[in-house]
Amino acid sequence: MEINSVIAARSSVRSYTAEPVETHAITSCLEAARLAPSACNAQPWHFVVVTAPETRDELARLSLAPGGVMNRFVAEAPVIVAVVAERPNITSQIGAALKNKPFYLIDIGIAAEHFCLQAAELGLGTCMIGWFAERKVRRLLDIPRGRRTVLLITLGRPADGAASRKAPAAERPDAFPPTTLAAPRPKQRKPLATIASSGRYGQPWVESVR
Ligand SMILES: Cc1cc2nc3c(=O)[nH]c(=O)nc-3n(C[C@H](O)[C@H](O)[C@H](O)COP(=O)(O)O)c2cc1C
Repeated sequence: MEINSVIAARSSVRSYTAEPVETHAITSCLEAARLAPSACNAQPWHFVVVTAPETRDELARLSLAPGGVMNRFVAEAPVIVAVVAERPNITSQIGAALKNKPFYLIDIGIAAEHFCLQAAELGLGTCMIGWFAERKVRRLLDIPRGRRTVLLITLGRPADGAASRKAPAAERPDAFPPTTLAAPRPKQRKPLATIASSGRYGQPWVESVR
């Protein structure tokens, strides 16, 4: 899809089929997040990919809001990704302090959206989850003390086909001018194996990018 169509097609998906998501599709979303821009190129993120049913059930329980309705759908998602904030590099820390702006949260938001847009491109659905019991999630996923878990992202095939649905014509700005971007330059980014874990923080994500 064209980028504008992907942007228009992505929406928060809150109903999933039980079908597992292929590892290479998850890798491709992680790779999209890996390439995100960040203040001082700090890349202050780590993604813990959870597919094990018991751990997912626990994450779903920890995401339920009081009343038990909001975030109930998390239990349906075949993949849940915890987005952990890593300590930014010193230049980003100094910049954030001098300008009184939480650059690391901006960085995480951009990376999370890259992840979700790539999922939409693959016909997969996502929903960012900000409401969850952070400390308990940290313990469950062996996330080191002192690191914030900023978001969970649910990932799976939409039960209603929502994410793969084409955006209505009115939402498709097909009249964008032709791009004048130069050919992509190689990006200085941390390797995927160091920014993504499988199941628990620190268990490297080993799938190579295709
Ligand atoms: C930081 C953040 C936290 C969010 N937390 C939740 C959440 O806990 N539960 C939920 O159902 N949706 C959550 N959402 C999804 C928003 O409700 C959703 O993006 C918004 O209503 C716009 O809808 P759309 O994503 O379909 O365009 C969150 C989104 C963001 C960006």
